[in-house]
Amino acid sequence: MAILSGELQNQLESIRQEALAELSAASDLRALEEVRIHFLGRKGKIKDLLKSLGSLPPDERPLVGAQVNRLHDEVELELNNTRINLEEKALEARLAGEKIDISLPGRDADIGAFHPVSLIIDEIASLFLRMGYDVYDDREIETDYYNFEALNFPADHPARDMQDTFFLDGGLLLRSHTSNGQIHYMENHKPPLKVIVPGRVYRRDSDPTHLPMFHQVEGLVVGKGVSMANLKWTLETMMKALFGPDSTLRLRPSFFPFTEPSAEVDMWFDTGNGQGRWLEMGGAGLVHPNVLLACQIDPEEWSGFAFGMGVERLAMIRYRVPDIRMFYENDVRVLEQFRGARRYSAFS
Ligand code: DAH
Repeated sequence: MAILSGELQNQLESIRQEALAELSAASDLRALEEVRIHFLGRKGKIKDLLKSLGSLPPDERPLVGAQVNRLHDEVELELNNTRINLEEKALEARLAGEKIDISLPGRDADIGAFHPVSLIIDEIASLFLRMGYDVYDDREIETDYYNFEALNFPADHPARDMQDTFFLDGGLLLRSHTSNGQIHYMENHKPPLKVIVPGRVYRRDSDPTHLPMFHQVEGLVVGKGVSMANLKWTLETMMKALFGPDSTLRLRPSFFPFTEPSAEVDMWFDTGNGQGRWLEMGGAGLVHPNVLLACQIDPEEWSGFAFGMGVERLAMIRYRVPDIRMFYENDVRVLEQFRGARRYSAFS
């Protein structure tokens, strides 16, 4: 029976020691994998030994083979044990890092609030729905025809300069007022009709009292014998609903191409301590016959009134906001004050 040569014994033993030392030094799974490749991998030290068996005399091969296999199994077992330990440690470290300290004070979740402009549009829509009006959401990109021509602005008439329009490519423009909604609505509805059109409008001016984008709410009523008295009652009803029974409104003669007669609508803005000032809210008037004609409505049979109000102006009075720019500075300290404000459902 062949005896393992001393030299081979030493070689096996030193590989064993080396492997055990590297295993116990492996501090993480990555290092462990390197140890595995180093000893048990296809080109590892133990595989090399097995490959060298071929060069031994045939009678020594079984014994040496058995020894090498034992070494292989021993190292593999130790490797698996080390892996289990390292995995446990890694899990413990992860759990320790994820530990929840239930004594920590909670973090407030920020809850948004409706913007005052949305709030007041909802309130106005709710009011007019209850008076039997439609609420019509019209387009913001418009043609010259709907923004001007059908509203009786003659081509090249200086009245177009009243509204510094943003022009787009292809003959389009950003609507400079919600009055475009009058035309679209009358093209699609036969009188008698009542509608409001709230929405964004755009103008090329920006200074302390004007913004390049703001909101208007248009109103249009067409029926039999509709008069200035109906217009004034409607505006007063809206103002009293929004600002209380003591609110004051005044109409001043004015000019708009699409109304005749036309009026400017002012509201009293009470700044406190008996002080206040008139704020211009928008325009109004009786629908010009040419506007009705543009929509195939016979002005001999039908008449109507229209108005267009600045929504930010209404919101300034409603919420006592002194500066129109505050609506768009996105200062959370301002917006937060509207968190508790009532939101009117348009259908309540
Ligand atoms: N469209 C006008 C503007 O933006 C406001 C306006 C005035 C609307 C009179 C109307 C109206 O419906 O009758 O300046």
